[in-house]
Amino acid sequence: MVEPLWTSAEIAAATGGRAIGAPFVAAGVSIDTRTLQPGDLFVALAGERDGYEFVASAMAKGAAGALVTQAVDGPSLQVPNALKALEQLGIAARDRAADARRCAVTGSVGKTSVTQAIAAALKLAGPSHNSVLSYNNHIGVPLTLARMPRKTKRAVFEIGMNHSGEIRPLVQMVRPHVAVVTTVGAAHTENFSDGEAGVARAKAEIFEGLELSGVAILNADNHWFDLLKAAAEAHGARALSFGRHKGCAARLIEMETAASGAVVIAEIHGQTLRFPIAQSGAHWGPNSLATILAVEALGAPVEIALEVLADFAPLAGRGETHRLVVDGAPITLIDESYNANPISMRAALATLAGSKAAGRKIAVLTDMLEMGEDAPAIHAALAEPIAAAGVDLVFLAGPDMRALWDILPASVRGAWRETAALLAIDVRCAIGPGDVVMAKGSKGSKASLVVQALLDAALNPQTAATGKTR
Ligand SMILES: Nc1ncnc2c1ncn2[C@@H]1O[C@H](COP(=O)(O)OP(=O)(O)OP(=O)(O)O)[C@@H](O)[C@H]1O
Ligand SMILES: [Mg+2]
Repeated sequence: MVEPLWTSAEIAAATGGRAIGAPFVAAGVSIDTRTLQPGDLFVALAGERDGYEFVASAMAKGAAGALVTQAVDGPSLQVPNALKALEQLGIAARDRAADARRCAVTGSVGKTSVTQAIAAALKLAGPSHNSVLSYNNHIGVPLTLARMPRKTKRAVFEIGMNHSGEIRPLVQMVRPHVAVVTTVGAAHTENFSDGEAGVARAKAEIFEGLELSGVAILNADNHWFDLLKAAAEAHGARALSFGRHKGCAARLIEMETAASGAVVIAEIHGQTLRFPIAQSGAHWGPNSLATILAVEALGAPVEIALEVLADFAPLAGRGETHRLVVDGAPITLIDESYNANPISMRAALATLAGSKAAGRKIAVLTDMLEMGEDAPAIHAALAEPIAAAGVDLVFLAGPDMRALWDILPASVRGAWRETAALLAIDVRCAIGPGDVVMAKGSKGSKASLVVQALLDAALNPQTAATGKTR
């Protein structure tokens, strides 16, 4: 029988909640009635609408009980503040799984990618636990902790931030033994008066929550490596580096593209390894090495990390590759539409550069958001990596992308539109046999609409003339 995650008595002890109705046993924890599973504890957080309004629906969907701020009919615990109670539950989960080694992953890009790769390896090494997708904020982190089974041996948590000071309380909840910073760059810079340096210092907050004799896994190729290393060591951590630099604990020597994915040649603690990975993006060289170091620092064998990396395919919107026939033209679509900032834009353009195209290489780029007042210049600066990637045709959407459009050579100009929805039509009309199309932009600027339009078009081919520009 599966061991219960929480009894109502344990929840009461952790939160100081007042028990109402019959005692209960919860198999999971949910904050959202749309995804609630029968047997879950429903935590009624205050949001745009008070969570209290959803308690009846949670109970109707089979919630075992609820954590509420206002008394309800049915098995529940009443607390003054539901978010605080969720945090207390998370901390209780952490403390009762006393043998678990915990890892926290942060960075300007690659958090989910690396967290999920580590998670896949930990699953093979014994009872483990991990964040779901990007549950990395003041709700996602305590929720993930509160869901941690008591017998967990290893766990990995994604920790994100938009502002300085946000990582600090989250990492104090997780108290990791291992902290990974994937990379630091210009993300959310509009929230930092001192730009990237401020972002780096905010990321360094992750070391403040490290357990004694912690391990910090850091990207030696990143400009902020020295700052992060010094911060980690100031908190008593041992720093392990990954990247191309000599002296890295995990040194990337070469990455060769393969028929599907790539082959990484690296030196790990002085030993040369050559291993296949299922990803072709160049950023998966460093991501793989960070994964290997983290898995090892969590006390699992490196071989397990290698086994997982050989199979770990791109996550949705993060390099997922589709081979489609659109209006009679076989094309390759690289879906990078999940999110974007200048670092991941450059990484995605490098992936496009490395792709094998019988036709043209086409970049479909939508605005990178939260770039502050330098946004037009940051967008215009993409002209250089676009040229370096040998992109044949560029389609752009959004007000900030206009600055890039204005300086692009006429030979590569596809179209610029106000919105991604409008741009989708141009892209569909332009593509031809053998083209590789890479679509990327911030979540809010919706490059995903272009991806979706091409996926839909593949299912619903046009028979009439499409007005192709080729
Ligand atoms: N090391 C890396 N360097 C550059 N780009 C990367 C790296 N790892 C992943 N990416 C790309 O960055 C984008 C975001 O990846 P991912 O979701 O893993 O990042 P994240 O940090 O979790 O983002 P979020 O802040 O939205 O949670 C994807 O397009 C992905 O392919
Ligand atoms: Mg994420």
